[in-house]
Amino acid sequence: MQKITKAVIPAAGLGTRFLPATKALPKEMLPIVDIPNIQYIVEEAVKAGIKDILIIISGAKETIEDHFDVNAELEMRLRASGKDEQADQIRAIADMANIVYIRQKEPKGLGHAVLSAKPFVGNEPFAVLLGDDLITDDIKPAIGELIEAYEETNGGTILGCKRVPQNLLKKYGVVKPVGESNSTMFQVNDMVEKPKDPSLAPSDVAVLGRYVLPGSIFHYLENTKPGVGGEIQLTDAIKASMETNPCYAKVFTGTRYDIGDKFGYVKAIIDYALKRDDIGEQVKSYIKELANQD
Ligand code: UTP
Repeated sequence: MQKITKAVIPAAGLGTRFLPATKALPKEMLPIVDIPNIQYIVEEAVKAGIKDILIIISGAKETIEDHFDVNAELEMRLRASGKDEQADQIRAIADMANIVYIRQKEPKGLGHAVLSAKPFVGNEPFAVLLGDDLITDDIKPAIGELIEAYEETNGGTILGCKRVPQNLLKKYGVVKPVGESNSTMFQVNDMVEKPKDPSLAPSDVAVLGRYVLPGSIFHYLENTKPGVGGEIQLTDAIKASMETNPCYAKVFTGTRYDIGDKFGYVKAIIDYALKRDDIGEQVKSYIKELANQD
């Protein structure tokens, strides 16, 4: 079994749910208070022991590259004015990981984005972390839990999952368990993408933004026909790959936020702000004050 040493972060989507902010700013750069979401994603990979990271970007996404680059002038100015702590913080972001970038020329879907990672990944198994899915890691980084599952299953394809209320299943890919599905890890043999009615969902376990995929996924992606909107769906390739590589759902521990969704983003900011040492108490009293006005 090969070790997982590489991570791919797709961040080339159009972010239409977050316009007009995403007209010039990639949604992955939206700040959770003062830290861009994508920095949390890179930190999650680093905490799980992955240092080689590919970020898939599109047209106007240089801001992502700039964020993880050295900014010598800013650092110099901060140091000159005695702000060494901030200068160190800025430098640490650039030193965190070995990050490379590939452009997805057209937004042809998540599957198409992952396929463009082939030259970086080669034929190895690798981790995928969606750039707009934020997962808390107070206990463990979600991608680390998936990597453990990959090792436990001796090289299985691993889907990062959460149990989701019936009325929300229609938003996600829902897994079909082979047998019992009440543990935190079980084998799956199918997935239903965005089931229109809860009765069409094969379980209450949805795939949410984290994967460990085998190198052979590229073969299946190359043979996946474009689906709705001309997009190549990662789900279709994973389903096809189940014939050669067993696939497992891993229910991760952290809480997940879809920051590409307006309400998901607001929830993330509130929860992360409440947990901070510097402003947590202030935010809490403000929320209480608001609640008392109703
Ligand atoms: P989403 O479907 O949430 O992203 O893709 P989107 O297309 O930007 O969203 P809306 O609906 O228009 O608001 C999930 C992840 O896959 C990436 C996105 O950047 C996001 O991290 N993605 C999606 C790509 O990299 N390329 C694509 O062509 C599509």
